[in-house]
Amino acid sequence: MDINADSARADFETAAPSAHPLTVAQARTEWDVQTAFLDSCSYGPPPRRGWEAMQRSLDQWRVGSVPWPRWAESVDTSRELFGRLVGVPADQVATGAAVSQLLAPIATALPDGAEVLIPDIEFTSGVYPFAVHADRGVRVRTAPLDTFAEAVDESTTLVSVSAAQSATGEVADIPAITQRAREVGALTVLDGTQAAGWLPLDAADVDFLAVAAYKWLCAPRGTAFLTMPSQLAAAHDDQPHRAAFFDRLKPLAAGWFAAGGAASYGMPMHLADGARAFDISPAWHSWVGTAPALELLLDVGVDRLHTHDLALANRFRTGLGLAESNSAIVSIGLDIADRSWPGALDRLDEAGVRYSQAGGNMRFGFHLFNDETDVDMALNAVTDYPPA
Ligand SMILES: Cc1ncc(COP(=O)(O)O)c(C=O)c1O
Repeated sequence: MDINADSARADFETAAPSAHPLTVAQARTEWDVQTAFLDSCSYGPPPRRGWEAMQRSLDQWRVGSVPWPRWAESVDTSRELFGRLVGVPADQVATGAAVSQLLAPIATALPDGAEVLIPDIEFTSGVYPFAVHADRGVRVRTAPLDTFAEAVDESTTLVSVSAAQSATGEVADIPAITQRAREVGALTVLDGTQAAGWLPLDAADVDFLAVAAYKWLCAPRGTAFLTMPSQLAAAHDDQPHRAAFFDRLKPLAAGWFAAGGAASYGMPMHLADGARAFDISPAWHSWVGTAPALELLLDVGVDRLHTHDLALANRFRTGLGLAESNSAIVSIGLDIADRSWPGALDRLDEAGVRYSQAGGNMRFGFHLFNDETDVDMALNAVTDYPPA
């Protein structure tokens, strides 16, 4: 244990700027998570304030005690808070239910014959929205993540990549990828679902940032965000193919909520301004649980969450004899685990350690509600070594 690193972290926590009034330790008291829940890659348990707000709204629904706009307010609150998390104003944030749904209009606006470049291990929700357009010549080309930026070339219309990979936790080289995409005029889609909440993300780096909130943002299932450029077509006048794309980009699921949130009837159509036109009708109670979770994460601050989550992930890696890394997700091939630590899967189950299996790997995610006890419990179960 590096004493200096610990005391530096303690200093950092006590000298919190007022924009981030909560330390990780203070925030953690809001979670009721059982020991060694290491499965934020699958879903994020809620802070108590999110859980209680949602239960209250369910109770209101049960007895019919409030008008629905009270719940719908949480959509705009969440939009604003998510915008702050990734550095864009609320009018650049669309809300929806899932990443794949939010990406569908982008895929539809691609020209016939477009090439979409994805990492060969990209999660399906960032792949199929494009792949289903094969009948009009849209091609999905794959490339390894570690040389992904080099694979972007003049034939690339759009790049779709996760900031942190679902199966491996690998963090994309976002500066290199976006720079290369800019050089060739390619559109950029970043999936921040496995990253937002622990990895600092700047939505302005890409054309579109899509995030499902039910993992590292500790929200209920059913809420997701998509950021978009502010001046859609006008911002890209100097590149005609991009301008044409933004002209074709339409809110394909526009309904009453895309009109700004008040029920309306008949014609003429009055779509909301900006990204809000891409909203779908909200799953009210899920949004009620989303806003308090975002508020709490912002109160801690992503930089601090990043430091905390990485420290735990690297403690786990070091304990397994692996090199440290830049990801809050530790992924070990099931075959490697089987060879190196026979019986580890059974021991993890017996110890009640919650992790997940994805793409032939064991995935462990470390987030703000975890501490060193969780790490050591998982380490001891995997390695079968007695506690240090
Ligand atoms: C990288 C990534 N994107 C998106 C999702 C979820 O996609 P959707 O919101 O379409 O269900 C996941 C879920 O595991 C994921 O890992």
